[in-house]
Amino acid sequence: MNKIILPPPGERGKLSLEESIMARRSVRYFTADALRIEEVSQMLWAGGGKTLEREYRLGRTAPSAGGIYPLEYYLVAGNVDEIPEGVYHYSWKNHSLLLKKGGDVRPFLARAALNQHFISRAPASIVITAVVEKTASRYGRRGVYRYVPMDAGHSAQNVYLQATALELGTVDVGAFDDSLVIKVLGVEREEPLLILPFGKPAD
Ligand SMILES: Cc1cc2nc3c(=O)[nH]c(=O)nc-3n(C[C@H](O)[C@H](O)[C@H](O)COP(=O)(O)O)c2cc1C
Repeated sequence: MNKIILPPPGERGKLSLEESIMARRSVRYFTADALRIEEVSQMLWAGGGKTLEREYRLGRTAPSAGGIYPLEYYLVAGNVDEIPEGVYHYSWKNHSLLLKKGGDVRPFLARAALNQHFISRAPASIVITAVVEKTASRYGRRGVYRYVPMDAGHSAQNVYLQATALELGTVDVGAFDDSLVIKVLGVEREEPLLILPFGKPAD
C-alpha cells in the first residue's frame, strides 16, 4: 500500500498556545519509543496542512508570501506505528502520505546533515523543501532569498509549537549538504530548506 490516509488532526491539546510558546526549545535527544500515527499526522498538519476554506480556496496552517505556497513536505519514517520505514511525500490537500522510497534512510539523512547523528536516532523527521521557481516567477530573486526562507520559518515554528504541545521535541536542522538531501528524498527541482527530526524528548 503506497498511500496512507492520515487520521484527521485534532483541534484541542493539553497545553495552551501560551504554554507551548513558553516551553518551546530545541530537542536533539530522543527516547527509543515509537511515534503514534496520530502524532505524525498532527505534526505534518501543523507544518503545512489545510485549514478552513476562505475566499474560495483552502487555507493553510502557515502563511506564504503572495499565497504561493512553494513548500513541500516529506516524512522520513523510521519508527512510527502504522507507517512503515521510508520516505513519504505529504499531500496537504488529502492529508495523506505517498510512499516515494521504502527502507530506513535515517542514517543517510544524518550523514547528509554533516553527521548530525541525532537525526538517525529520532523516530521520524519532517523535511521541508521548496519549489523556488513558484515564488521566483512572481517575485524574482528577492522572492527567492527573502520570501521562501520566511515561508519555511513560519512553517517550522508551527512544527516546534505542535511538538511542544504534544510533549514531543524537535529541532531545526539547516546545516546539510543540499545534493545529499536531494538524493535521500529522491526529489527534482526542489531545494531542501529544513530537516525537523522529532520524537519523545530524552533530555
Ligand atoms: C535556521 C536554523 C537552522 C538551524 N540549524 C541547526 C542545525 O543544523 N543543527 C542543530 O543542532 N540546531 C540547529 N538549529 C537550532 C538552533 O541551534 C537553536 O534554535 C538555538 O540554539 C536556540 O535554542 P532553542 O531553539 O532551544 O531556543 C537551527 C535553527 C535555525 C533557526
